[in-house]
Amino acid sequence: MTSIQDKNTWSGRFAEPVAELVKRYTASVGFDQKLALFDIQGSLAHAQMLAACGIIAEQDLSDIQRGLAKIRSEIIAGEFIWSFDLEDVHLNIERRLTTLVGDAGKRLHTGRSRNDQVATDVRLYLRDAIDELMKLIAALQNALLDLAELHTLTIMPGFTHLQVAQPISFAHHLMAYFEMLKRDAERLQDTRRRVNRLPLGAAALAGTSYPIRREMVAELLGFEGVCENSLDAVSDRDFAIEFTAAGALIMTHLSRFSEELILWMNPRVGFIDIADRFCTGSSIMPQKKNPDVPELVRGKTGRVNGHLVALLTLMKGQPLAYNKDNQEDKEPLFDTVDTLVQTLRIYTDMISGIKVKPDAMRNAALQGYATATDLADYLVKKGLPFRDAHEAVALAVRFAEQRGCDLSEIDLAELQSFSMLIEQDVYQVLSLEGSLASRNHIGGTAPNQVAAAIARGRRYLEAQ
Ligand code: ARG
Repeated sequence: MTSIQDKNTWSGRFAEPVAELVKRYTASVGFDQKLALFDIQGSLAHAQMLAACGIIAEQDLSDIQRGLAKIRSEIIAGEFIWSFDLEDVHLNIERRLTTLVGDAGKRLHTGRSRNDQVATDVRLYLRDAIDELMKLIAALQNALLDLAELHTLTIMPGFTHLQVAQPISFAHHLMAYFEMLKRDAERLQDTRRRVNRLPLGAAALAGTSYPIRREMVAELLGFEGVCENSLDAVSDRDFAIEFTAAGALIMTHLSRFSEELILWMNPRVGFIDIADRFCTGSSIMPQKKNPDVPELVRGKTGRVNGHLVALLTLMKGQPLAYNKDNQEDKEPLFDTVDTLVQTLRIYTDMISGIKVKPDAMRNAALQGYATATDLADYLVKKGLPFRDAHEAVALAVRFAEQRGCDLSEIDLAELQSFSMLIEQDVYQVLSLEGSLASRNHIGGTAPNQVAAAIARGRRYLEAQ
């Protein structure tokens, strides 16, 4: 970052130069450089419209196009020289353009303000980010389907209150996350519709007196329409807030999943192993293998939640229209996108590398009387009211616990002491497989239902 010792863009109005500390305090070029290519994209469309409307000459347009093409390649090559004195990405590019092509560069800003320019850039950036995130979510969903497909018959305990509740398949558990991600993707898609509107033409706040054609710019940039009120166009960042809220939910879902992976990997539980490349050792304890990646996903959820609160807080006190506060929208937004991109990428890889330990899962499901509800349901189907059935089974569980055995290990005569309705066919009901198979409706854990859910998931992803 260099310093350009010449006049500021607006210096004619001022009696003294901006203080050095203030320059640094107000400059955003350190982070809004990230918008550079979108800024150029927006400027090209704006210039094309200005020429089409006869506001600038065709020659100006081709000079601007030539200059911006050069700047674009300088930026991509990392050769562009950014200056703090030029405050932000917009002024840096505009100054360079003027250096390269002269007066045409100075004409680019006709009928435009940095207020509608930056709002446009952020929307272009975010639209792009959403499209990338949609692909990354789909890739993670695919990895979940691949793993689930192998485990419709792998039985584990399902938990409520983190206590063994009822047996489920590992595939069923994984598919719960598939559903969460499906809603996450829907939320992003929905947000995209509101992101994809053009602010340009709003100029500083009230519109512009030039005979512009906003629809043309919108079409050139692939926006679905224009923002319909100029004050709103330059000042609201609700689309960024909405996106960050959707992002916070994605992270929240992955944080829950991470918590489970960490638990499952604990040697006391031992349901899975995470590939070594996602773990680290300890500098002092030679035996350690730490699940760093899921822990960090859990941790980084806090930072994205923080960004959401930052953006909401940024907005809440602002009178219409644009205020410099809005410059603070970028870092939280960029970091949310970066965190999501990195997290989704690493997660997909990690899920593909999970080693499942079906025996440990099955053993855990066999402990804790996971089929007690099945026994109660069995009695209800034989005519006992559910509350009575519940009580009879509770007594049976207590008996089994005292004896240190499973319900299926109690012989028939003893079981009949809890209810005379119990017959030989009870042992099928008490088996883990029987329990799963009986939950045979859409959304249930029966292997054929989970297989159908996986097939629906495949079709959903193909249709994306
Ligand atoms: N860097 C500014 C931002 O990010 C651009 C808009 C500046 N507009 C202004 N009137 N100072 O919001």
